[in-house]
Amino acid sequence: MKKMWWHDSVIYQIYPRSFKDSNGDGIGDINGIIEKIDYLKDLGVDIVWLSPVYTSPMDDNGYDISDYQNIASEFGSLEEMDKLIKKCDEKGISIMMDLVVNHTSDEHEWFVESKKSKDNPYRDYYIWRDGQGDYPNDIISTFSGPAWDYDEKTDQYYFHLFSKKQPDLNWDNEKMRNDIYQMMNWWLDRGIRGFRMDVIDLIGKNIDKKIVGNGPTLHERLQEMNQKTFGHRDIVTVGETWGATPEIAKLYSKPERNELSMVFQFEHVTAFHDEKFGKWASKPVDFSVIKDILSKWQVELKEDGWNSLFWNNHDLPRVVSKYGNEAYRDKSAKMLATMIHMMKGTPYIYQGEEIGMTNVQYDFSDYRDIELINAYHDLVPEKLSHDQMMTGIYADGRDNARTPMQWDSSQHGGFTSGQPWLKVNPNYKDINVKECLENKVSIFYYYKKLIDLRKKHDVIVYGDFKRLYSDHPDLFVYERTYMDEKLLVILNHTDKVISKPQGLDQGHLIISNYQDSDEEIRPYEALVYSL
Ligand code: NOJ
Repeated sequence: MKKMWWHDSVIYQIYPRSFKDSNGDGIGDINGIIEKIDYLKDLGVDIVWLSPVYTSPMDDNGYDISDYQNIASEFGSLEEMDKLIKKCDEKGISIMMDLVVNHTSDEHEWFVESKKSKDNPYRDYYIWRDGQGDYPNDIISTFSGPAWDYDEKTDQYYFHLFSKKQPDLNWDNEKMRNDIYQMMNWWLDRGIRGFRMDVIDLIGKNIDKKIVGNGPTLHERLQEMNQKTFGHRDIVTVGETWGATPEIAKLYSKPERNELSMVFQFEHVTAFHDEKFGKWASKPVDFSVIKDILSKWQVELKEDGWNSLFWNNHDLPRVVSKYGNEAYRDKSAKMLATMIHMMKGTPYIYQGEEIGMTNVQYDFSDYRDIELINAYHDLVPEKLSHDQMMTGIYADGRDNARTPMQWDSSQHGGFTSGQPWLKVNPNYKDINVKECLENKVSIFYYYKKLIDLRKKHDVIVYGDFKRLYSDHPDLFVYERTYMDEKLLVILNHTDKVISKPQGLDQGHLIISNYQDSDEEIRPYEALVYSL
């Protein structure tokens, strides 16, 4: 496998709205991020994935873009964005921007034009269909309700897979595609080093055949995009690909296919979704399923393709609350971090994960996320009771990830001097960055060490993966091998004390989440040996 600069990189995701507010308006901003570059450097990350900062009416917190070549006023200005890119670069940190091109905002000038008349030059930039008095078909939006909205003026429906303020672009229109490529090059010229591609698996859709994900033109479009934009530059690209199997992942990320650097797939997340109500009625997490899925991806992408390693992002619940145990917050957070950071692929850390932030349980009126609010109104009370839905929201609602970053124990966790746009998790007095930085055995320093180990051991980056004791109900044990290096990873994913399996050659301990050793494997213990 040809080595690439992003193979041993660790990516840190910033959700700007919730990261750091510098001007007291209660909303995080670019200057707030600039204040914290040294913090990111200290952690040791190489790349920052910046969730959207473009001009937007913020129906979906910036995933509804009204101007791709400008910055939302609440986040700052283009000059500040340039400054962020430059300051990060000086510290050796690359910026990866979120590229949201399945849809725009309905306030984007293309859509404003498109709505004007059937013969407007921008009409075909979006997907319009006749309805004969009813929706053109029964495709449902991810944010609840029909994926179609009626426009009286031209008596047609436009298609939107997310909110009605996020009309889908028509990727069959070549002129539209070229405008997108031009915009991408404009950003690349400003010095960013990557794109995270929002729901990119949807751009090959054929809605007349009711195909939305993994559509017939998907890979051809990506190859064209690659060729016309980043293909000639040394940058990193990651596709958000909900429905990818390992076979599909190889189509995206096999280097000779000239598409993307890697996929970001969710099999370990969707495995627990309910058939009918999705994440709102999730099944309990089962580690036998997680271990099988993670191992399968390690083995299948051994030669070709590249995967992302993550538990969290801005759409997912907090890792400790979902997969760990808040009663063992420190130990389970470190164990879960070890599980994926010792694997092959590119690890992602979502803001606050490195200090062990947890889920919240708010009153319904305190939530802000459009997906959650729409789903509540769609499902309650006909399909789910209020209490059932709140259980779903507590477990899997996206605002769990979006509560403001907890910097210290001062008011609002030091996130803002004003009123935060979303309430801060009430546990900020105990869980915050300042506390973590003062405690040399904190979750923060554990992540720092995991990152550092990746830089020092090629076996973590490129080693073959072999699962051991696959039938063990409580442990996840695997081995990594590369040239003459071998690592043994032993993880207890339960709150029980487990006896050590016989016959393990342990060698020298390179990281562990307990300060001392024991004959048995303690609750949520993680041990990594170099053999
Ligand atoms: C996926 C993003 O991660 C999510 O936050 C957003 O709501 C949808 N795509 C629509 O852009």
